Amino acid sequence: MKVLVVGGGGREHALVWALSRSSQVKKLYCTPGNPGIEALAECTDIGCEGTAAICDFAESKGVDLVVVGPEAYLAAGVIDELRKRGITAFGPTKAAARIETDKAFAKQLMERKRIPTARFRQFDNPTDAEAYVKTLTPPIVVKANGLAAGKGVTIAQSHKEAVESIRAIMNERIFGDAGDLVIIEEFLVGEEASVLAFCDGRHVVPLEAAQDHKRAYDGDTGPNTGGMGAYSPVSIVDDAMLKRVVDEILIPAVEGLAEEGTPYIGVLYAGLMIGPDGPKVVEFNARFGDPEAQAVLPRLRTDLADVMQACANGDLDGVTLEFLEDSAVCVMMTSSGYPGHYQTGYEIKGLDRVRDREDVIVFHSGTSLHNGRLVTSGGRVLGVTALGSGIRDAANRAYEAVRSIKFENARYRTDIGFREMARVSG
Ligand code: AMP
Ligand code: GLY
Repeated sequence: MKVLVVGGGGREHALVWALSRSSQVKKLYCTPGNPGIEALAECTDIGCEGTAAICDFAESKGVDLVVVGPEAYLAAGVIDELRKRGITAFGPTKAAARIETDKAFAKQLMERKRIPTARFRQFDNPTDAEAYVKTLTPPIVVKANGLAAGKGVTIAQSHKEAVESIRAIMNERIFGDAGDLVIIEEFLVGEEASVLAFCDGRHVVPLEAAQDHKRAYDGDTGPNTGGMGAYSPVSIVDDAMLKRVVDEILIPAVEGLAEEGTPYIGVLYAGLMIGPDGPKVVEFNARFGDPEAQAVLPRLRTDLADVMQACANGDLDGVTLEFLEDSAVCVMMTSSGYPGHYQTGYEIKGLDRVRDREDVIVFHSGTSLHNGRLVTSGGRVLGVTALGSGIRDAANRAYEAVRSIKFENARYRTDIGFREMARVSG
């Protein structure tokens, strides 16, 4: 079969990598792709924001399955258009993707289906929101309702900070229309984990859990980023916890969306806080996580193309997933300054030193080719994943590879997996 992957970051590189190992996949396309993906798939930049262009491309190449990575394309309705044209597509429709793109919608769905999550209030004007936060005890969680590239959340440590973030969202409109509504939430305590699950509209098959590291600096300090690294599996999400996540969260969510006439097909990502009362939802995403995908997919033994087709065809019942016992650790190498201002265009060297290693995979996030040289072109540059027997072994291998890859202004966290390591050593 021929598969087209839409997107061009580390997550899409991981998707292309996993699909390239499928016995069924004979041809892989990616748009726009990146220099790392190019080794595995034919990359064409077909003006990706254009939904029609993606559909035309899929039709002209006789693509059997289209896999959409980033949320922006889902929000633009790419999946709706592909299905309308009879092209098999993996991902939720624009309406189903509201579980990520419209936090108020997600919160109401969780309320209706009694899915455990932080208590919340939503406001369409800053005056009422400000009056409300003054009645709360910090920390106070303030969120822009719409998509804000992972930057729409403030954990305010004071009333003043909460009011400032409401004003930034609603008056200064730093996230544009994403700030039409603001959500004020209870602060949840516990440890975060990401559980991703395949869904076919009715059934749910979870992947093994991963844990992201969203803060920029070691010890979970500094500003929030798109994710500085991830690992899988996560021992706090054992079989019993995973069953609770499926029964209390994922199944009710998929049921709720089906009841609203917008069945969910694709990967549903539950961002969880595992606290004293069990798992609670921090947020849902309508896609694979980045960098969670780079930690989870290298461990997946089941043919990804088979599972994705089963999702698209409503055939997921009875499908089980197999994972390697190995742990995976993905360390993001970033441009110094990220998530703030940073310089790009620096040559990346040393990838040849890890190319032949069976236990290391380097996923490209923000790279490009300039006069035949591989250079940095984004905040997150490379996701270096290693497999090993246990978290420490995997982390040691990942960091050894990271140290052999060089570019100017490279920066990475040195403690990916630290919570799991603390648990492992008792
Ligand atoms: P989000 O963009 O919704 O994933 O939020 C970014 C980060 O903010 C999350 O990964 C959490 O660390 C934190 N966060 C969001 N909502 C809450 C909450 N209700 N309680 C505690 N932390 C939260
Ligand atoms: N790693 C967080 C996300 O993909 O949203």
